[in-house]
Amino acid sequence: MYFSKLIATGACVPKTVISNQKLSELVDTSDEWISSRTGIRNRHFAQTENASDLAIGTARQILSRCQIAPEDIDLIIVATVSGDYTTPSVACLVQAAIGAKNALAFDISAACSGFIFGLSVADKYIRAGIYKNALIIGSELLSKYLNFNDRSTCVLFGDGSGGAMVVRSDEPGLLCEALGSDGERGLSLTCGHVPTSSPFNGLPRGTDPYVHMDGRVIFDFATRTVPKSVEEMLEKQGVGIEDIDLVVPHQANSRIVEIISRKLKIPMEKFYLNMHEYANTSSASIPIALNELVENGRITPGMTVLFCGFGAGLTWGNMLIRM
Ligand code: UT7
Repeated sequence: MYFSKLIATGACVPKTVISNQKLSELVDTSDEWISSRTGIRNRHFAQTENASDLAIGTARQILSRCQIAPEDIDLIIVATVSGDYTTPSVACLVQAAIGAKNALAFDISAACSGFIFGLSVADKYIRAGIYKNALIIGSELLSKYLNFNDRSTCVLFGDGSGGAMVVRSDEPGLLCEALGSDGERGLSLTCGHVPTSSPFNGLPRGTDPYVHMDGRVIFDFATRTVPKSVEEMLEKQGVGIEDIDLVVPHQANSRIVEIISRKLKIPMEKFYLNMHEYANTSSASIPIALNELVENGRITPGMTVLFCGFGAGLTWGNMLIRM
């Protein structure tokens, strides 16, 4: 019987940091409003890099931290909703850049749950005995989709990338998961709409690149669906709250995390927050946080870590990991 285990992490974010104060010079907002409503203080915005450059930076860092040669990678999954192109995928661009010539590479679109969806797909390939070494990355360049005249969205998001190497193992590493989707509420958070048009239907060409969001719908969804899904998952697995060493939630809003903490009765001290530095980086937020925890020694081998992803789609992805 095969299991999958996470053996190395990495991250790559653009150097340029934009503070709430800096944003307030552009749009009618304030540091006070943004930080008290969301916990966000800074975000990193790309100057020239695109989503693939950040993903490649992450991939190279992960490779430098494990004993796996590029040609031994079987699978590359990049979770992204802000890739460089509609096609080729960011995963194929990563494959070429790192020389992973034997890998199957593709992107998945599950927004802020994307990294967890990617881990889940890799886990199935590994458990089925098809692949041994999978590189999973979340990479987003959301700044290119933000409307800097819309204060209700442009203050919330940032650019970044993070990821992990997941390999075949004799012991369980990815312990259990609860993933889901609710397409009925999908249009409450959209990004990058390309309408139908051709010379034969007379419809005008034009795209709406921007993020549009009904924040309250997403807030309500996240604070109801995530705790319920986590509770059901843990109960099914026979895992108690006390068995969880750390929680790495999606970094959208500290108030959402506080409500999740209260509902799950897991103390806030066990939740890792870094949205004050990166804002919401969608699929990259969980792996960037995970990488920081590994780098600063707060996550060590043997620890049990809960990931909670949620966002556009709508989608959610919760997963319990033994490091
Ligand atoms: O990755 C997952 C995707 N997204 C999320 O998880 C976001 C989930 N939602 C949220 O985090 C919150 O709903 C927000 C942070 C987006 C908004 O917080 P809120 O407490 O729901 O605020 P609101 O949208 O109800 O707006 C309250 C007020 C409004 O003014 P009025 O109508 O009360 O006068 C807004 O116009 O705040 C105003 N406002 C702002 N003021 C200053 C909205 N954005 C801003 C801003 N600066 N940036």
